[in-house]
Amino acid sequence: MSRNILELRELSVDYHMPSGDIHAVRKASLNVSEGQIFGIIGESGSGKSTLGYAIPRLLPPYAIVRGGEIIIDGRDIVTLPESQLNEIRGKVLTYVPQGAQNALNPVFTVEHQIADPIREHTHMSWKEAVRRARESLESVGVRRNRANQYPHQFSGGMKQRALIALALALNSKLVILDEPTTALDVLVQRQVFDLVKEIRSKFGTSFLLISHDLAIVSTVCDMIAIMYAGEIVEMAPTREIFGNPRHPYTRALISSLPKLNFADQDLEQIRGSPPNLSRLPTGCAFHPRCKYAVEKCTQVSPLLEDLDPNHAVACHRVKELEKWKRQ
Ligand SMILES: Nc1ncnc2c1ncn2[C@@H]1O[C@H](COP(=O)(O)OP(=O)(O)O)[C@@H](O)[C@H]1O
Ligand SMILES: [Mg+2]
Repeated sequence: MSRNILELRELSVDYHMPSGDIHAVRKASLNVSEGQIFGIIGESGSGKSTLGYAIPRLLPPYAIVRGGEIIIDGRDIVTLPESQLNEIRGKVLTYVPQGAQNALNPVFTVEHQIADPIREHTHMSWKEAVRRARESLESVGVRRNRANQYPHQFSGGMKQRALIALALALNSKLVILDEPTTALDVLVQRQVFDLVKEIRSKFGTSFLLISHDLAIVSTVCDMIAIMYAGEIVEMAPTREIFGNPRHPYTRALISSLPKLNFADQDLEQIRGSPPNLSRLPTGCAFHPRCKYAVEKCTQVSPLLEDLDPNHAVACHRVKELEKWKRQ
């Protein structure tokens, strides 16, 4: 078994707002092992980006880590002072936020913007950092004659490649990509994911891919965690998630994917909308939308439990659902 580069244990994050606390992440636990590509999937507003920001401790000041541990490369960083966090950010992990490709500064060349954090994190001279940036850009398919161009001369896919090049240049063990392909067309999305796979096999880099799009991310991830209303409701290898989805929400998500035929014809469209995270329903957050909900689901929040060694589900009804499926 390979080592875990990231372990989250019951991580909870709230945004402290005048209108009431938003419970954006609730008791999230997961492990990402070395060289693993791990996907976090959920609808918009399910807490994925909050989880992503929490890992390098980049949350805004009014966000509160209510509890839990974030263990990166063996160290719990929730309690680590800011001065030591810089040893982790960049070196051990790089976080590429949602929309980062649009946040590139229009007045600097791409290689300049890659070289800048390289110099900051590695204490290289400017000249060395630029050389490193160019090499890294080249390794993700951005040729030298393009490296000194400005962001507006880059396509969306090239900008995303440039951001991955930054993580590579820093030798990060874990790269978190938040919605890396959202603004890209399907062919370019595939190229970005091919690059992710290539980097993983060459360098053993682990990736945490955050996306609202289960179909796309499933083409590249080894393992998938499904988030709903701030919680992980199901977690399993990608093949299991598709071949044997067990949470009613995951089943509904999969059944809503176009052009895929699954043996289980019972799957139905999902009704209603996700809850407001500052006014969560009692019990299971999914119960108002779940056709299998019983009294207990309205009162008791289900825990994420291992049904098989590698398949965890948070649902009171999961055992009955399995029985019905077998009949
Ligand atoms: N910086 C922020 N300040 C206040 N609330 C936020 C902030 N970021 C996210 N939220 C709230 O937290 C919840 C989860 O959001 P987010 O983590 O962005 O979800 P996702 O990435 O799945 O769309 C939402 O209710 C959102 O409105
Ligand atoms: Mg997001």
